[in-house]
Amino acid sequence: MPDPNTPLLELIGVSKSFGGVQALRDVDFTLRAGEIHGLVGENGAGKSTMMKIIAGVHADYAGRFLLDGRAVHFRSARDAHTAGIAMVHQELSVAPDLSVAENVFLGTQLTNRLGIVQWRRMAEEARAQLARLGVDVDPRQQMGALPIGVQQLIEISRVLFSGARIIILDEPTSALSPPEIARLFTALRGLRASGASIVFISHFIDDILNVSDTVTVFRNGQKIMTAPAATSTKNGLIQSMIGRGHAELEDTYTSDIRLAPPIDRPVMLEAANLRLGRSLRDVSLAVRAGEVLGIYGFMGCGQAELARVLFGKTKPERGTIRVDGRRLRGGGTASARRAGMAFVPDSRRSMLFHQEPVYKNTSISILGRLSRLFLKPAQERALAARQIEALRIRPPRVDALLGGLSGGNQQKVGLAKWLTYPPKVLVLCEPTRGMDVGAKDEVVKIVRGLKEKGLAIIIVSSEPETVLSMADRIVVLRKGELVREFCDENVSKDRLLEAA
Ligand SMILES: Nc1ncnc2c1ncn2[C@@H]1O[C@H](COP(=O)(O)OP(=O)(O)OP(=O)(O)O)[C@@H](O)[C@H]1O
Ligand SMILES: [Mg+2]
Repeated sequence: MPDPNTPLLELIGVSKSFGGVQALRDVDFTLRAGEIHGLVGENGAGKSTMMKIIAGVHADYAGRFLLDGRAVHFRSARDAHTAGIAMVHQELSVAPDLSVAENVFLGTQLTNRLGIVQWRRMAEEARAQLARLGVDVDPRQQMGALPIGVQQLIEISRVLFSGARIIILDEPTSALSPPEIARLFTALRGLRASGASIVFISHFIDDILNVSDTVTVFRNGQKIMTAPAATSTKNGLIQSMIGRGHAELEDTYTSDIRLAPPIDRPVMLEAANLRLGRSLRDVSLAVRAGEVLGIYGFMGCGQAELARVLFGKTKPERGTIRVDGRRLRGGGTASARRAGMAFVPDSRRSMLFHQEPVYKNTSISILGRLSRLFLKPAQERALAARQIEALRIRPPRVDALLGGLSGGNQQKVGLAKWLTYPPKVLVLCEPTRGMDVGAKDEVVKIVRGLKEKGLAIIIVSSEPETVLSMADRIVVLRKGELVREFCDENVSKDRLLEAA
């Protein structure tokens, strides 16, 4: 009979380094049966690394790992899986060419006694599982064709309902909007009630406090503290995370913020009557020089399509787009770029080169522009060094390989190049996704700086905090329609959610 006080899982004095980088230093971590354990820390603090040790992804580490009081050392993710541990990774790891049902049952296809795959049963069960998270998709549909947020929910569903008794979620809500997050939390509480233990990593401290029983803070590869969520405060956690007082960081936006009055400057981007299937229905909007327009809506409301149409990646069925007074005529992204537009998609990983150093990744898309003037590696590096400093990219080395950076730091690299080569109109999709509170703050300041230089900026996001922290004016999209504009008035997170 196991001692009921024995923790389900215990790491003792765990250290891990990658080449010269010490990702974890002498970390102790305890997970109890039937708890939801929140994990927070700055980008690069070591959260994913520790969870990957638990999930068997990193086998090469120092220290002890006890499961049910017995020493284990997993050599592979399969070992961890056999022991009942499953993880949703920070990087989406779905199979885009397979169907939804095949993704739900990845590696565990249902077969009958003769070993024949039971497609119909898989489709039915996949549909039922997804319904528990509020996802209504045809299980036979191809995964890659679905929006990122839906793919993320499908991956979460696969892990949640895999029967694992320890479930690790590494920033599962980064592409989800509030209603989906609420459903996810209901599912997590249900799993806890049935005895599962859950580790939940997020940069949204409110979510962490809302769903966790216990909270652990990491900083610089070390564990700083573990405390009950009930006695923790947001400011307290942020202070432990960044190691200094920073009460003004990450506002909650529960109370009103005041949006700017209209400004009287030239319109830099004007879209009129854009229509695209069921995704966009007669959308019109304009952004002026020196203005930040926020486009807010729940995932799937059409905001991703709108951003793509604005930048010429998708051709609308109807409607016109003008940049700086000149009409873009169906020339795709090249003509948008020539007109002075830049676009940062939410799937920034696809624009990054994992085998290349940071400095190449920050200059690649501007190579054309650089080579005309100069292309000296020293200058490329100097440019990258400035970006690293501005965004506090860690490790602060221009030669670090991109693939070795933590998730949030890769996001910063994806954003960096646009911030030093500002265009006339900048469209940023989910500009702070995956970033810690400090980095978000840096991005807010950089966006304000660009605005003061006269750029017209569009922020597209399904995170209320993101638009509230940056926008002068906010439009809300619902099912492809602009349903509300907030301008020169008070707005809060609640009011934004109500409008969507
Ligand atoms: N495969 C790898 N190769 C080299 N270095 C790595 C690798 N994985 C992680 N690191 C380094 O280990 C440190 C911790 O990274 P980790 O991914 O655990 O951070 P994190 O807390 O999950 O951050 P984030 O919030 O950005 O996801 C970072 O300095 C990172 O650059
Ligand atoms: Mg991580």
